[in-house]
Amino acid sequence: MSLIELEKIFQDKIDKEIRIEPKDWMPEKYRQTLIRQISQHAHSEIVGMLPEGNWITRAPTLRRKVTLIAKVQDEAGHGLYLYSSAETLGISRDEMVSQLNSGKAKYSSIFNYPTTSWADMGAIGWLVDGAAIMNQVPLCRNSYGPYARAMVRVCKEESFHQRQGFEILLVLSRGSEAQRKMCQNAINRWWWPSVMMFGPGDDASPHTAQSMKWKIKRFTNDELRQKFIDICAEQVKLLGMTLPDPDLKWNAAKGHYDFGAIDWTEFWNVVAGNGPCNKERLEARNKAHDDGAWVREAAVAYARKQKDKLSQTKVA
Ligand code: 3HC
Repeated sequence: MSLIELEKIFQDKIDKEIRIEPKDWMPEKYRQTLIRQISQHAHSEIVGMLPEGNWITRAPTLRRKVTLIAKVQDEAGHGLYLYSSAETLGISRDEMVSQLNSGKAKYSSIFNYPTTSWADMGAIGWLVDGAAIMNQVPLCRNSYGPYARAMVRVCKEESFHQRQGFEILLVLSRGSEAQRKMCQNAINRWWWPSVMMFGPGDDASPHTAQSMKWKIKRFTNDELRQKFIDICAEQVKLLGMTLPDPDLKWNAAKGHYDFGAIDWTEFWNVVAGNGPCNKERLEARNKAHDDGAWVREAAVAYARKQKDKLSQTKVA
């Protein structure tokens, strides 16, 4: 059979909503697109454990701690299902991880922003997991069987994540003045990065048109972004908080919210690894090396330990 015939049979299957399975013939570009997207997705789940993992020991109550641990563990599970699903396309997990480490493979821009307060755990759950679900529910119907099936479980867990985040913010929004301020501040910092998570606008997205044709994507980046903004603009009212966008306004004619301009320069900088988190973390690390702070800290800690040991021996 010629390549053209094979491609026609393949596209017919997709048009008829028949899933493509690992042993089916598929165009090389379809395979590569899936590897790129699924591995980026898996890396995002794993890297996404880091900012929240930092807050497990600082969660304010036992209930919050247990919930946060469960959420972070879920993200690890999502990464594993997704790596397994990418492996069915003929790439090994080692290869994917080394592509992440070398910077060849991307992960979601959102995880390059720092988590500076407890309210950030709420804002991440509500906004970041909320944006992730908006994008991931349609992925349960994507054309590649192993990816679509993995997404069913991922989405169930993500909706718990979104609710736990909203509930954290709801409690803070009904708390003291300081808690309300912390809540608003976290929303202000996480709003625009979450809006950007959907990727570049459709006019600047090189992959959307082909991925829609192959039904890897069911909606474009801008369509999903608009749905997310419409939902959040209503939900924020329940918190008695605001979204940091003076241009956010209901447009009755369109049946959607209009919103302000997105800072795409920031988006591409963050994707390239120059996000606020990378920058601050890197600067702090370099400074600590340069002025010898790490060595001093280690020496002080060692001296303190020795002193404690000595005083314990005396007591005994
Ligand atoms: N962060 C980093 N890179 C991004 C990005 C983002 N938020 N959005 C797009 N990009 C990259 C693309 O990977 C692509 O890079 P490449 O050409 O070098 O490979 C480039 O920008 C152009 O974007 P396109 O829109 O043309 O790319 P896609 O068609 O792949 O669409 C996507 C981007 C919508 C993110 C799509 O890949 C997708 O739906 N991926 C699956 C879902 C996913 O990865 N979500 C990440 C978040 S998961 C998560 O947050 C965990 C949760 O627990 C919170």
